[in-house]
Amino acid sequence: FFLKDAAGPLSHRRVLVTAGPTVEPIDPVRFIANRSSGKQGYAIAAALRNLGADVTLVTGPTNEKPPAGINVVRVQTAREMMSASEAALPFDCAVCCAAVADYRPEIETPHKIKKERGGLTDIPLTENPDILKTLSKMTEGRPRLVIGFAAETDDVLGHAEAKRNRKGCDWIVANDVSPGEHCAMGGERNTVILITEDGDEEWPEMSKGEVARKLADRIAGALKGPAL
Ligand code: CTP
Ligand code: CA
Repeated sequence: FFLKDAAGPLSHRRVLVTAGPTVEPIDPVRFIANRSSGKQGYAIAAALRNLGADVTLVTGPTNEKPPAGINVVRVQTAREMMSASEAALPFDCAVCCAAVADYRPEIETPHKIKKERGGLTDIPLTENPDILKTLSKMTEGRPRLVIGFAAETDDVLGHAEAKRNRKGCDWIVANDVSPGEHCAMGGERNTVILITEDGDEEWPEMSKGEVARKLADRIAGALKGPAL
């Protein structure tokens, strides 16, 4: 009940945050997953909550403690993340931070695959649903503001701009995940480029908490106007 009454510029705004990795079982002991600490997504959920938003955090397994005062839905697979996100619609804004496994094994077997019999070098894969793309391309009840993340190497800005077009989302937060001293993966700090309809903005290196607060402020600015 107190969720709805939280004061702040995002009061009465419903926001979805996806975070963490998804985990796709191969057999009872093995899985496919992406690298994701969940730190940036959890920080964004907390920052949005602090501005008064009614936040639903749909999260894969992480070691992070969810912020107080938000709705938390724990999932394992991309398909679960997709259906939990759709089940919680409508949203004014969706922030897709999750590192979703792009593919899952076509067949999840309850039998442990034995390596001496082969079968582990050639696992048929099938593509997972794309949560960001699905929300971006909704024809009815689309969240007003859909935001994706793009962790890239090499031509970071080029890849991220192409991704924004391909997915149909409004904004992309891009970061360089080339291995190195300042890599955001698993760390506390992040250097991002915010890509919006108005162009690209490079933010200086800051903590993931600061990135989250800055993004939440920008979301609040963009959502001024009548609620859903
Ligand atoms: N995303 C998603 N569902 C997927 C794949 C990605 O919601 N099945 C979202 C991520 O949460 C992120 C954005 O899409 O906000 C970009 O994810 P990314 O993995 O960088 O994009 P892909 O289209 O999967 O491209 P690739 O991995 O080949 O770079
Ligand atoms: Ca991907």
